[in-house]
Order: sequence, then structure tokens, then C-alpha cells
Amino acid sequence: MADLDGLKVAHNYYVDVPFQNNKGFYVKGANALDWGMKKHLAHIFNPKSGNTVMFAFDHGYFMGAAAGLERLDIEIPKLIPNIDVLMATRGGLRSCIDPALIGDKGIALRATSGSSMLDEDLSHEALAVDAMEASRMNADCLAIQTFIGADGELSSLDNLAKAVNFGQQYSIPILGVVAVGKQMERTPRFFKLATRILAELGANIVKTYNCENFDEVAAACPVPIVVAGGKKVPEKEALEMAYSVIQNGAHGVDMGRNIFQSLHPVEMSKAVRMIVHEKATAKEAYEFYEDAIHPVQ
Ligand code: R5P
Repeated sequence: MADLDGLKVAHNYYVDVPFQNNKGFYVKGANALDWGMKKHLAHIFNPKSGNTVMFAFDHGYFMGAAAGLERLDIEIPKLIPNIDVLMATRGGLRSCIDPALIGDKGIALRATSGSSMLDEDLSHEALAVDAMEASRMNADCLAIQTFIGADGELSSLDNLAKAVNFGQQYSIPILGVVAVGKQMERTPRFFKLATRILAELGANIVKTYNCENFDEVAAACPVPIVVAGGKKVPEKEALEMAYSVIQNGAHGVDMGRNIFQSLHPVEMSKAVRMIVHEKATAKEAYEFYEDAIHPVQ
């Protein structure tokens, strides 16, 4: 195999070496961006911890009235104090969330849409929000769903590229979302591939899932990763996941069901916040959660 001569085949992710292009601005990979772009990123990632608690309640865009999200107008406002960024659809925000409640919170606006959960193949989405609408909503970033390895891969990457083009023009960061469909792998190999592709195509933030060797996924992704919660699991497990990804290089969570489907969403969101911003361990956060839901009489 002469063509392998001199080729480095072993990967080295330098997981213990901090990101090197870090002089000037604290958000990973954002040094060369415009002032307006940095301002949005500073709104998303807390300048002190460098991390973010994003709360995803955009599920209605394909699930309709998902369990826990039947009434956005009732469920969401009480969670706002504990989160940094609301990830939602424009319809959900405009119809149910009073802008006066938003204060200094960021907005991650879902900007792609596709078919409903009744469809077998959910991997075909279209870009649904343009630059003008993003500015009207005062969005701090636009969430673009991508489907690496699925039937809709190419069109989803085309949506991402178009959003990056106008995002650069109007200083709106792009959050590339790694989707995991039924037919898609959930291996470290897949997540390394997908997260890196989205960053190389210009996403300023990447949302993905936890996996084995997550530290390598995070190290190889040159922009901040936020980790989705995924299906509802017991609170202890969700907090352990949040702790583990933060320890291994994530810059926050973008959690939905593990907050809004908890019997105690407010307490759960506070516990997540302790891990993301206050260096709490999973154990400390869970103890806080337990004490908060079973106060001593
Ligand atoms: C993404 O496709 C969904 O709309 C949610 O934003 C995402 O899955 C995060 O929520 P969860 O923590 O419930 O997975």
C-alpha cells in the first residue's frame, strides 16, 4: 500500500490541550467573527462560565402538542429565570411568550421545518425563516436541523449553507443541529463526523448528543457544542449526563424533555443550571433537586 506511506493513521484529538485559537474572544472558534455576531454569542454563552443553559421547547414543529408542552403559555414562563436561551419556533414564541418576560435571555429560533411525526422519513426539511424574520424576532441564533447519513442529507446541508450565508451577512450566528433519525447511527464515529461537518460548513454552535468518547467529539469540533437531553430519563440520570458532557468539553446543554417532562421542571432546570454554570457535580445537583422537591416540614 504505497499510497499509505508517510500517512498518519492514528487520531490524536489532544483532548487535554485547550483550544488554541482562543486569544481575543472567549467563545470557541469565534475570534474572527464580526462584533454583532460576538454580541449574540455573548448573549448565549455566559461570559463567566463560558457555558449556556438552552431550553428547547420547539418540539411542536413536528410533534404538535407534545407531552409537557400542551400549554406553552403556562409551562414556559416559570422556567425562564433558570435558563439562558429559549429555543423555540417563531409561532410558539409570538403566540405564547410575552416579550416582557424575556429580559436578558437569548433566543435560538428554529429556522427549518419539515413533515410531521406521522411521516416515516423526517429527514427532509426546508429553510423556513429568512434574515428579515430572524431580525424581527431578534434571534441570537438560528437552529438548522441537519441529517447526516439520511435521505435528506444534501438538502439539509443546503439549508445550513444558505443560513450561514445570510447569517454572516446580517451577523446572526447559526446553530447546526445534528439529528439522529431511526435509521441513523448513534456512535462516536457518527457524532465526530456530523459535528465536524457542521462546523466546517460554517455553523457557529453545534448541537448534538452525548456518546462514548465525547471528549474526542468536543475536541475535534472547533465551535462550542451544546448537548441535547434526548428522551426523558430519571432526573438523576439526566443530571449525570449533563455533568459528564460539561466535564468532557461541552459548552452547555440544549435540554427539552428532561426538563419539561419532569414532574418538577422548575427544580430540574435549577439543578441543570448548577452543573452548567456553578461547577456543581451531578451528585450535588441531584441532592439539591431532591431537597427542593421534598422540603423538610
Ligand atoms: C430537535 O430536533 C428538537 O426539536 C429539540 O430541540 C431537541 O431534541 C432537544 O430537546 P430534547 O432534549 O427533548 O431532545
